[in-house]
Amino acid sequence: MAHFISTSCSLNISSSCTKPQHLLRNQNSVRFSASFSLRTAPFASEKLILHCKGPRGFSTINAKAVSFSQESKTEPASSVPPKGGESADRKKVMVIGGDGYCGWATALHLSNKNYEVAVVDNLVRRLFDHQLGLDSLTPISSIHNRIRRWKSLTGKDIQLYIGDICDFEFLSETFKSFEPDAVVHFGEQRSAPYSMIDRSRAVFTQHNNVIGTLNVLFAIKEFREDCHLVKLGTMGEYGTPNIDIEEGYITITHNGRTDTLPYPKQASSFYHLSKVHDSHNIAFTCKAWGIRATDLNQGVVYGVRTDETAMHDELCNRFDYDGIFGTALNRFCVQAAVGHPLTVYGKGGQTRGYLDIRDTVQCVELAIANPAQRGEFRVFNQFTEQFSVNELAALVTKAGEKLGIEVKTISVPNPRVEAEEHYYNAKHTKLVELGLKPHLLSDSLLDSLLNFAIQHKDRVDTKQIMPSVSWKKIGVKPKTLAA
Ligand SMILES: NC(=O)c1ccc[n+]([C@@H]2O[C@H](COP(=O)([O-])OP(=O)(O)OC[C@H]3O[C@@H](n4cnc5c(N)ncnc54)[C@H](O)[C@@H]3O)[C@@H](O)[C@H]2O)c1
Repeated sequence: MAHFISTSCSLNISSSCTKPQHLLRNQNSVRFSASFSLRTAPFASEKLILHCKGPRGFSTINAKAVSFSQESKTEPASSVPPKGGESADRKKVMVIGGDGYCGWATALHLSNKNYEVAVVDNLVRRLFDHQLGLDSLTPISSIHNRIRRWKSLTGKDIQLYIGDICDFEFLSETFKSFEPDAVVHFGEQRSAPYSMIDRSRAVFTQHNNVIGTLNVLFAIKEFREDCHLVKLGTMGEYGTPNIDIEEGYITITHNGRTDTLPYPKQASSFYHLSKVHDSHNIAFTCKAWGIRATDLNQGVVYGVRTDETAMHDELCNRFDYDGIFGTALNRFCVQAAVGHPLTVYGKGGQTRGYLDIRDTVQCVELAIANPAQRGEFRVFNQFTEQFSVNELAALVTKAGEKLGIEVKTISVPNPRVEAEEHYYNAKHTKLVELGLKPHLLSDSLLDSLLNFAIQHKDRVDTKQIMPSVSWKKIGVKPKTLAA
């Protein structure tokens, strides 16, 4: 699988070397071919060799691995004094996938709430964009600049470990170095369409997600057995059964006997199946090793701004609108902003749970503040409202009218295999009981989201809007999607 990134050391390129983010930041001028690869020598030698094939042939970067905190010691001290106290009893939270959409917002939120935060990420999400010719609606800074900006604004440090959690040696060193009290695990390939592009992406998704999570479980057992795992699952694990969806477990009476069992899973893509397998592995290790874990079965997230990401342009979060990584409401807002008809798949009766990204960060904080018991596998359904696709289209149309935009809706052939009209009623009370104060999808939020999309509409590549991946046409041959 040469075209997927794989690292095997805790890495930050020292300031005297070319930084990998230079390759990643300049998204318009650097196109990686399928032969992009990142190989590292064994961990002990702390050497990085980066080969990439660009328009001008191969280039190789050699760099020495140092920890981010080591590097920052050599940098001039920030002019802003630390705020919020550096007390030794602050809870340490490792945010795996902390450069991604949910992870970045969460890392900043927890840092702001005075948790000691480390981001662990291999930046593979940025690589997917390069490989597929996609880009975030919002310009996003490199993770290094994001973290430096946060420090300069707040005085708060976020530690950074660049590497792949599928590499157990890297993960072990990260655990031993940071010693987390809680791990929030967002670090997965999270797009259902991506997992359905071709065989190699299906295999990559399941390997990356299942092995990554398994490694996290082994790292907790080996190095931090009291550490609380907060794992991002998805409401998509349940599918669309013709009965109410409970929070993780259902009590069943069968032939006169009663038991409380894991709620049945009916995943609808290789991505969703990877999450189901994660949940089983986590449940098993809670029972077998006494791991404490919370599985957050998250709904579809919308929105872009949180209190922290809104503090500076360099802290801005990513906003995906394309047919592969874009999520429903975010996509509709961008489509309306550029005058593209809203793309309803099939009949549009597909109903799911949704939540504002400000509630994602709140839910994760609540889960960390109220940890599961040793051996407990706790499941929360993390969403605040449910909508059908047709209902979302109607809401965006109404918001467009208020802004003087004419919004049209079209039905496009459904690229997925899913029920287009179905019963859907999912419980979501446990996070509310812990204190979640939901931001519901009000008219004002939709107006501001639409305005945000309008503000950035010059960056929209309209070729990326229509769905390009078909569940039924997935095959063995590697597919290149971008023109
Ligand atoms: N965004 C949503 O609407 C949504 C909905 C339900 C569940 N979730 C779940 O929340 C989590 C985060 O989603 P997101 O939208 O922020 O995704 P994202 O792709 O924006 O972020 C994931 C991050 O994890 C990193 N990553 C992936 N594999 C890694 C590995 N092996 N080692 C280290 N880092 C790795 C990526 O580089 C990326 O920065 C995912 O697990 C996803 O399944 C998201």
